[in-house]
Amino acid sequence: MNIIEEIKKLKKEKNAIILTHCYQNIEIDEISDFVGDSLYLSRAAAKTNADIIVFAGVYFMAQSAKILSPNKKVFLPNMNSGCLMADMIDVNNLRIFKKQNPNIPVVCYINSTAEVKAECDICCTSSNAIEIVKSLNVPKVLFVPDTYLGKWVEKQLGNVEIITFNGFCPTHLRIRVEDIERARKLYPNAEILTHPECHNEVAKLSDFVGSTKEIMDYAKQSDKKQFIIATEKGVADRLNRDSKLYNWGKEFILINENIICPNMKHNTLEDIYNTLLNETNEITIDKEISKKARISIDKMLNVK
Ligand code: 13P
Ligand code: SF4
Repeated sequence: MNIIEEIKKLKKEKNAIILTHCYQNIEIDEISDFVGDSLYLSRAAAKTNADIIVFAGVYFMAQSAKILSPNKKVFLPNMNSGCLMADMIDVNNLRIFKKQNPNIPVVCYINSTAEVKAECDICCTSSNAIEIVKSLNVPKVLFVPDTYLGKWVEKQLGNVEIITFNGFCPTHLRIRVEDIERARKLYPNAEILTHPECHNEVAKLSDFVGSTKEIMDYAKQSDKKQFIIATEKGVADRLNRDSKLYNWGKEFILINENIICPNMKHNTLEDIYNTLLNETNEITIDKEISKKARISIDKMLNVK
């Protein structure tokens, strides 16, 4: 059996699309309709006419697709695909955090569960976090769950106090200041491109800070030839593949071989095939929670 051909056949038969995050195993791209970052994939999920969405990503991403397309069937190929950061806050913690800091709008990173989104004012991704906070036009906001993204946004804006929950991404925090210093010495002509989930000191020492897609777009248009990628391995893999494919003559070096999100790597082509064939691992969300969470996501999509 040629699994790629079988998946393509099933997609046609069932009017299904596959949305794939850039941190997924690269071979999944071949059967994907959209490959990108959280914001790009959320927009794709909101617009599609397909009957079925298979989300090659982590649980909160598939949940967001379901929130935006409540009448479609949404599947996660492998249910072990959670996000460690999203799991750091639940509704109880959120309520305590809000009680400790009353009457302040809450911005919620898309890396969070539907239940948490339902109790926040507006959602954001790493691509639009600055614009979302700015759009609130207030001097103070609460930001959950990523303390590093929140503090990075605070620094970029300069005029808004951002009180952050103490969540973090264990994968991105593995990138240390020493990694940046070492890369600068070894590759003095390279540009260092960094995700804002990293330590703020790491971001400060970088040449460009942006979401997964922003990093990829920046690397494509830059006239430099060598880049250090300070985010998940999938980004470096895709950039090196495209550089060969389209003769960019560019080299992308992962800052540190350990920058792999294990949860993003669970989904395999076999899982995708089985999910499509048997319609297993369907995402379901309580209707009331889904409606409330959608308000937060829609508000975000209306800003940027
Ligand atoms: P992006 O918004 O860059 O897709 O980030 C998602 C994520 O989980 C990063 O760790
Ligand atoms: Fe979550 Fe970090 Fe993995 Fe992104 S890289 S999915 S934030 S654990």
